[in-house]
Amino acid sequence: MNREQISRIAHTDHPIKSPLNDASVHRLLEHGLSRGDERVLDLGCGSGEWLLRALATRPHLHAEGVDISAAAMAQARQAARERGVEDRLVLHHQEAEGFVSVQPFNLVISVGATHAFGGLLPTLAAAREHLAPGGRVLIGEGFWDRTPSQEAIDMLGDLTDLATTVDRVVADGWTPIHGHISTRHELDDYEWACWGSLATWALDHPADPDSSQALTAASTHRTEWLRFYRDTWGFVSLVLGRTPDRP
Ligand SMILES: C[S@@+](CC[C@H](N)C(=O)[O-])C[C@H]1O[C@@H](n2cnc3c(N)ncnc32)[C@H](O)[C@@H]1O
Repeated sequence: MNREQISRIAHTDHPIKSPLNDASVHRLLEHGLSRGDERVLDLGCGSGEWLLRALATRPHLHAEGVDISAAAMAQARQAARERGVEDRLVLHHQEAEGFVSVQPFNLVISVGATHAFGGLLPTLAAAREHLAPGGRVLIGEGFWDRTPSQEAIDMLGDLTDLATTVDRVVADGWTPIHGHISTRHELDDYEWACWGSLATWALDHPADPDSSQALTAASTHRTEWLRFYRDTWGFVSLVLGRTPDRP
């Protein structure tokens, strides 16, 4: 069982692969998509859940998603067919960094995928390249809510605190027009959904050759979360516009 198979099972009950509930996702999309006929790009779209939700509720929207996971792309394609939005969704199976488009986008999304570009600011720089005038960026990134342990840094990267994270975004020329800080409930719900789904699958498939690996992975991830980062890791989602240049 590879990482992609583990991830697919782990996200069975939480198709948004970030610690946000359905109402938060809905609100963030509302703030990024005020017209309903926008062109939307998701860099690191996973199984495309952000785009699928945006498309399902806005019949004049067009969307493109980029991800390196073949399994996630296949899942997105199938879900688009099931939800009847496949004619307005284009999926690119490739590195997000190398993605180019002749037409710009009104909203560029990148949630939980800044590692694809090597961090927050390089992700914003890439988003800027794809943005139409007056466009918005919806970015989701981790931050340290308290001083992290070395294990947490090794696991989740060298993040900053919330205020510093937002300061860095603002200093980079962006103005936050909406934001959401994942609640304790959203953070916990996401982890329980992931490692609970994986454990459930393992218990329900005792004869499957992957059952014992899945159970071990669920147990390891759950322990790492509880012991190493539950008390220190937070997640913020921001809807951003470009700050006007002043002479
Ligand atoms: C935590 S998931 C987030 C998925 C989605 N944004 C969401 O919130 O549901 C991170 C995604 O980034 C993708 N990814 C990682 N590195 C990438 C890269 N270099 N180029 C494109 N996608 C990448 C992974 O395959 C994965 O689907």
